[in-house]
Amino acid sequence: MNITFADSLPSGASLIAHIVNRGALPDGLENVIVEGAKAARFKGGPGQVFEGFVQRGGKLVRVALSGTGENGADERSINCEKAGAALAAKYVTSGETSIVVDFTDSGLTSAEVTSVLLGLRLRCWRHDAYRTKLKEEQKKTLVSATVIGAPKRAEDLWETEAALCEGIEFARDLIAEPANILYPTSFVTRCRDALQGTGIEIVVLDEDEMEKLGMGALLGVGLGSEKDSRLLCMKWSGGETGQRPMAFVGKGVTFDTGGISIKPGPGMWDMKWDMGGAAAVAGAMVSIAKRQAKANIIGVCGLVENMPDGRAQRPGDIVTSMSGQTIEVLNTDAEGRLVLCDALTWVQKEFDPVGIVDFATLTGAMIVALGNEHGGLFANDDTLAEKLLSAGKSTGDKLWRFPLSSAYDKLIDSPIADMKNIGPRGAGSITAAQFLQRFVDKDRPWAHCDIAGMVFSEKAGQTWDKGATGYGVRIIDQYVRDVLEA
Ligand code: BES
Ligand code: MN
Ligand code: ZN
Repeated sequence: MNITFADSLPSGASLIAHIVNRGALPDGLENVIVEGAKAARFKGGPGQVFEGFVQRGGKLVRVALSGTGENGADERSINCEKAGAALAAKYVTSGETSIVVDFTDSGLTSAEVTSVLLGLRLRCWRHDAYRTKLKEEQKKTLVSATVIGAPKRAEDLWETEAALCEGIEFARDLIAEPANILYPTSFVTRCRDALQGTGIEIVVLDEDEMEKLGMGALLGVGLGSEKDSRLLCMKWSGGETGQRPMAFVGKGVTFDTGGISIKPGPGMWDMKWDMGGAAAVAGAMVSIAKRQAKANIIGVCGLVENMPDGRAQRPGDIVTSMSGQTIEVLNTDAEGRLVLCDALTWVQKEFDPVGIVDFATLTGAMIVALGNEHGGLFANDDTLAEKLLSAGKSTGDKLWRFPLSSAYDKLIDSPIADMKNIGPRGAGSITAAQFLQRFVDKDRPWAHCDIAGMVFSEKAGQTWDKGATGYGVRIIDQYVRDVLEA
């Protein structure tokens, strides 16, 4: 969606939305709107929308009212996003191609205005590329918005938020694609295209190069697939030269059949979004590069397809990771950790980052624990954990912290190798995190976000339609703003 700013109402507007703060309607509305809103019990709560029709100069005009709730409410910015998102949800397929969003008399700050616009734009995203038989009334029509009555600074601030939207939309596009279209090499191509001209540096390791580096864990996962594995590294140098970077690492299993430990058929299709961690990292790199963030940031995606085949790895195989540690692969479906461990080792050796945060759809157990409301957070560093929790809270991409300890760690000791890739039945998300921690240098701040329940949604939410959510992009982008650019 294209969002532009104007000084006055464009002529010929057929849909005009007024943002209603604290339930106070703007001056000058027709009585039929004012009385209609009252009759419809419109109170201006977050996300509440009223619609009425009026005649203006012989033309029928739709007038919408959309509420932000109260000033100073907890989650104020999220409430503002809801005001924009509710308009998008109502009008995206309405036949209207553009909307005027009028902030006159709302008293919203510039930042609050951008929150409304963020909600509006994000909630408009959909992926209809493969739906060739959509009925007219099902097709997206709303493609542009004109903003009037906003404080001066809002337009400048919006540039940053528009870059954030681009990153989230890019991540959603990757997640929505099926695995016959999106696989390791095509994932890389899409990232190259999206990042072209931004000044970001891209390095891609192919299987030969990974072999030479000893990435036996990552490569083992891809053995059964016809698709070549890749390690994708995106390097953004917007900070001071010589300053050590922060690193973000994503699990990019472009399809997870489980391998020889094959998954049951029903629901296996969900595993096309087993690259949601990698998509979050790639999307965040798009945002960061497009808004020219003043920080040094590395994004790494481990890209592999997990398939059963005559060449696939077997339960019981022992692989040697790049770190030199050996792993007994007892379950080929616990593959995400095998991909991430080599990516973690590589990023530390290559860049000596000040900290690492990884994102992964790592365990079904995470969904058992948290459902679809929070991602799970695991960290060896309280400061890093606090910053991520607060980035999650302020953006709505919420996280909840879980423990790590040596008692959990020893559950993955193996009698025949340095470790096994699964633990006992209990604490499955924690033992997966313990596995990753074995590949992180002792004093390096590291956090792991298990986002299995957050990548894909069965129902529409605040700023997303059902389907890909883009979860995680905002956590990374907010962390960069709060910590690295502060
Ligand atoms: N990609 C899955 C985890 C997952 C499951 C993500 C459902 C999203 C929805 C992961 O690779 C996996 O298969 N994990 C296993 C681990 C087990 C074998 C220890 C799981 O959770 O069952
Ligand atoms: Mn798996
Ligand atoms: Zn997986």
